[in-house]
Amino acid sequence: MKSIEKNPRIIVALDYPAAEPALELVSGLDPALCRLKVGKEMFTRLGPGFVERLVSRGFDVFLDLKFHDIPNTVAAACDAAADLGVWMINLHASGGAPMMEAAMERLNRHPNRPLLVAVTVLTSLSDQDIAKVGYRGTTAETVLRLAALTADSGLDGIVCSPREVTEVRRGIGQDFLLVTPGVRPRSAALDDQKRVMTPLDALNNGADMLVIGRPITAAADPLASLKDIRESISGFNPA
Ligand code: C5P
Repeated sequence: MKSIEKNPRIIVALDYPAAEPALELVSGLDPALCRLKVGKEMFTRLGPGFVERLVSRGFDVFLDLKFHDIPNTVAAACDAAADLGVWMINLHASGGAPMMEAAMERLNRHPNRPLLVAVTVLTSLSDQDIAKVGYRGTTAETVLRLAALTADSGLDGIVCSPREVTEVRRGIGQDFLLVTPGVRPRSAALDDQKRVMTPLDALNNGADMLVIGRPITAAADPLASLKDIRESISGFNPA
């Protein structure tokens, strides 16, 4: 298992329709204070060159493309992501153990490989939705089963809701990275997030890193907002 530097624990989600506002925000941020996440929208619009610009500015970049395909294709995509110099990538655990193992095997050929984490069940899906897909059991049971499969496949961790953190931590143990979106400082608007938790509560429950978008990106002063959130977790003392 790769040794993992967890600080800075805040990953700012860059969800913009164009490069300019994202780069304007990024020029006011500092790689020592946060990491950055690029998702499907920005990557599809702007391509790998945009990711490389962020990497060249010294930021750890989480490329959130949630790969899901046959093992050979996902392994090749992970290889391409590693060549961009990103810090973390992800895939869907429902692609199965052979897919996850192939991805990991390919990444291990890189001397400084990106971290690889899995999405278990999309938090937008209800118990009824996943039953229609064909999963047995509740979403909570499915999350735990796929988290165990992810750990058995040798990945570094999962992306999960802060509400799932306690159960997953109990089920899988300490040596497994838990990255959580759906985090809101007490003062912030909920936006479209329904089940949120404060940054400090998420960390105290066992999360390692927090993905936070609009409370920072939509703030009048994003750097001040980032610093406020950092201050709110400064008392966090990992066990
Ligand atoms: O702006 P906000 O803090 O809600 O952004 C959260 C980020 O995390 C977005 O990029 C969103 O796509 C992502 N995300 C999420 N909930 C999930 C998975 C990913 O909010 N369950």
